Amino acid sequence: QIYPVILCGGSGMRLWPLSRKALPKPFLPLVNEETLFEQAVRRVAGDDRFAAPLVVAGEAHSDLIMAQLGNTPGARLVVEPCARNTAPAIALAAALLPEDAVMLVCPSDHHIADAGAFRAAALAAAELARLDHLVSFGIAPDRPETGYGYLERGAPLAGGYAIARFVEKPDLARAQEYLASGKFSWNGGIFAFRAGRLLEELAAHRPEMASLVRQAVAEGHEEGARFLPAAEPFAAIVGDSIDYAVMENTSSAAMVSVDMGWSDIGNWAALADALAGVADGEGNVTRGGPVDLSKCRGVFALTDGPRISAVGLEDVCIIVSGNEVLVTTREGALLVGKLPGAANQ
Ligand code: GDD
Ligand code: MG
Repeated sequence: QIYPVILCGGSGMRLWPLSRKALPKPFLPLVNEETLFEQAVRRVAGDDRFAAPLVVAGEAHSDLIMAQLGNTPGARLVVEPCARNTAPAIALAAALLPEDAVMLVCPSDHHIADAGAFRAAALAAAELARLDHLVSFGIAPDRPETGYGYLERGAPLAGGYAIARFVEKPDLARAQEYLASGKFSWNGGIFAFRAGRLLEELAAHRPEMASLVRQAVAEGHEEGARFLPAAEPFAAIVGDSIDYAVMENTSSAAMVSVDMGWSDIGNWAALADALAGVADGEGNVTRGGPVDLSKCRGVFALTDGPRISAVGLEDVCIIVSGNEVLVTTREGALLVGKLPGAANQ
């Protein structure tokens, strides 16, 4: 069996004003009536090739998670005492699983249109993970995005490739070079490895983090379906992402290529793209309450109540949520997280 580990963290400010601290991106029904977190759970539920999910998240979202897990049989929650980024979060899960368990690390805030392709890739990744590779899901890039990791394809392996180089969040010049070379995939942020293997690599590259995680688990305790690691050792960790802490440094990185309609829905324009299938003839996408668009093209409009009326606009996003209104161009959507309204909530 494959052990899904679902990560919930981050604050999702870039989808403000809908996404807020109290109700961030994973817990919103963005693409359809299910939330991204519910979809992440459902992608691996009811299929006996996958074990019950282990969710890793902070206390602040513990109730939301329990509610959105519904009656997922066997689901467990690891409650992080504080946020220390993805490497410690993943290591907590690894330390709680049997050494030989193949973990499938799944972000909770991505959209994947083709769940079947995702599961097929997970099986291929698990095969490589059993051979002690640290496996990443590779996505074909279509722009020089600087917010992603880049995987350089190396020698072919059964079901995938070795990763010759893993470069987390390159600058624009390098991202352009990687895109042009045709040799790179994006890192989808979905990983498979043996729990024991991940901990070995972490111990090699971040020994202090590895031992503090082990201590937090050894001194932690269970409370029903929740596991609470010890706060003191966990808080002493210097936070880092799995990408920088392990994937850039390991010599066992491998990848599977997967075409599954993946989007990390990083901003409003990306959500509009993920919803292109339901656009009208003019490329407009509307969500939520009443929206009247006249002579508009490529407009994304979402409201949780008040009517939106727009005339003669092109390629803009209009979001109305509670008492906040956001209007932005597609390019501007990349900067929403820095607006005072998003930053000072
Ligand atoms: N439990 C927990 N604790 N989860 C966390 C934490 C944490 O401290 N920090 C982040 N996460 C969760 C996020 O909610 C998200 O689901 C996932 O881990 C990845 O974290 P992000 O903060 O969204 O990372 P990123 O988008 O900057 O980069 C990662 O994902 C890209 C693809 O979307 C990297 O892996 C990149 O290489 C990759 O391309
Ligand atoms: Mg992300």
